[in-house]
Amino acid sequence: MTIRKILTEPDPFLRQKSEPVEKVDDSIRKIMDDMLETMYDAPGIGLAAIQIGVPKRIIVLDISKNPEKKEPMYFINPEKIYTSKDQATYEEGCLSVPGQFAEIDRPDKCHIKYLDYNGDSKELKANGLLATCIQHEMDHLEGILFIDYLSSEKIEINAEELEKDKDYILNMLKSEVASAHWGKDEAMGIRLNYDNQVIDALNYFDEATGFINKSQ
Ligand code: NI
Repeated sequence: MTIRKILTEPDPFLRQKSEPVEKVDDSIRKIMDDMLETMYDAPGIGLAAIQIGVPKRIIVLDISKNPEKKEPMYFINPEKIYTSKDQATYEEGCLSVPGQFAEIDRPDKCHIKYLDYNGDSKELKANGLLATCIQHEMDHLEGILFIDYLSSEKIEINAEELEKDKDYILNMLKSEVASAHWGKDEAMGIRLNYDNQVIDALNYFDEATGFINKSQ
């Protein structure tokens, strides 16, 4: 087993979508062994292959946090079958985002199917920390990092702060879009010309009013 280098933000490789594993063979098991070794060394409780520069849909986890009694889990080509509406909040961190931690809401339960270390089809119903870890790692396979959720939370907070200005901002955007008959993509372009606060507020209005969708 080899300890591999863990890629960190803002390495663009982390934003790549990982490809399915076609055949679970010794070369794949070698990657998983290296991933586990790298994760324990870091130390961490989960790792996706993309984090060591391998864009394949492979995850390893060990949430036991017990060096005396390791409980490694391997997931190849994981797919969500079900996620609960109920949310759970955990403070998350990531070996690829050193030094940053934040509380993130995710579905409290998830049911996944995957291939195990031997390539056999398996299913798992997870809840609590395990469900959160699986979803965090599955995000890596799509090029998503937990910090991506922070910006949307920040947007909500900023939008609340800007509530008193919403009529002004909404009318400004309406007139821009209406006067040029612009669609969503163009409207997005317009936003880039505004300062961050206004962009945040406009994102808020996307969700709150569906205005951008209506303007198409
Ligand atoms: Ni991570």
